[in-house]
Amino acid sequence: MTSPLRALRLRARRSLDPAHYDYYAGGAGDERALGENERAFARLALLPRILRGAERRDTTVALFGDRAAMPVIVSPTAFHRLAHPQGERAVARATAAAGTILTTGMAATTPVAAVVDAARSERPDAAVWFQLYLQPEPEVTEALVRRAEKAGCSALVVTVDSPVFGRRERDERHGFHDLPAGLAAENMRDLPGTGPGGLRAIAMSPASSWDDLRRLRSMTALPVLLKGVLHPEDARLAVAEGVDGLIVSNHGGRQLDAAPATVEALPRIADAVAGRIPVLLDGGVRRGSDAALALALGATAVGVGRPVLWGLAADGEKGVRQVLDLLHTEFDHTLALCGGRSPADLTRDMVVTRGRPAG
Ligand code: FNR
Repeated sequence: MTSPLRALRLRARRSLDPAHYDYYAGGAGDERALGENERAFARLALLPRILRGAERRDTTVALFGDRAAMPVIVSPTAFHRLAHPQGERAVARATAAAGTILTTGMAATTPVAAVVDAARSERPDAAVWFQLYLQPEPEVTEALVRRAEKAGCSALVVTVDSPVFGRRERDERHGFHDLPAGLAAENMRDLPGTGPGGLRAIAMSPASSWDDLRRLRSMTALPVLLKGVLHPEDARLAVAEGVDGLIVSNHGGRQLDAAPATVEALPRIADAVAGRIPVLLDGGVRRGSDAALALALGATAVGVGRPVLWGLAADGEKGVRQVLDLLHTEFDHTLALCGGRSPADLTRDMVVTRGRPAG
């Protein structure tokens, strides 16, 4: 059986240049982390509750002052205009129409202000978050923060799982290293150190430390989330540092290939955080039931990366809308089958491992 999402991926594959398809689809090294993200969900099962009188359901979640119609949001992924001429604008409109939150990023091929405008043209209160990597020069990081604030972003997502670039062998095989002429990481234009209209490269900064994060915190009043947390001790440190939220992520298997599946790392992070700040997760979410499993294990919401790219490449804005609506319908249906009224009714006691006697 081909799931609707898999069918979209196959359509996307037909429409994309093979080097671009592989850039989106691929992961680091042997793609173990990539594959395990999905397989780990398949190893888990939900014990539904019965007779709970849950006639009406509400799938909305509140996140840092924003509301999402479902606990599924859009994770930051690079270079949407490789997939479709409307690129990030199409994703912004579809995400706003689906009532959920978009994370746009430094590596977007559309400037953040235009992304926020596209989202708000669809829904005036649409929420857009901005993802960034700490840059070696604090003034560059600060210029990006100001740009995101000015555009109207309501949270900053700092990706911390990339001290250096992951090694993606598919890209090496294709020799894919640069965007084609006419496309650029538009948020990297006109930053300190370049002439007018000049572009800076996105730098990875292995020297970054908690000091740099503190400096970022002091630059802005926006909520700050850390994306790419897998070690429970880092989760504890982040809470102590006043971070507003965590995203358990292995960058969709594109950075450390030896990283665990995110849903397997989640319970220990949730324990370490103990409800003090929201914990989100991304990686391998392909069904509404995957979102339900992550919520039961302690996530407030999940993000999707590649599914959005498949929708975009297959059918532009409509394709992205289809992906998000599908996940919403599936999540609501799973909640109903589990006897839940709201995401909070999904609890850890409901999760068991397949092939192993429960209890
Ligand atoms: C990403 N991801 C990512 N993350 C980030 O913080 N900044 C970025 O620029 C990118 N770029 C990017 C490009 C592509 C093509 C992919 C597939 C992913 C990681 C992304 O935010 C997210 O963590 C994963 O995509 C989640 O896994 P799934 O949903 O793709 O399995």
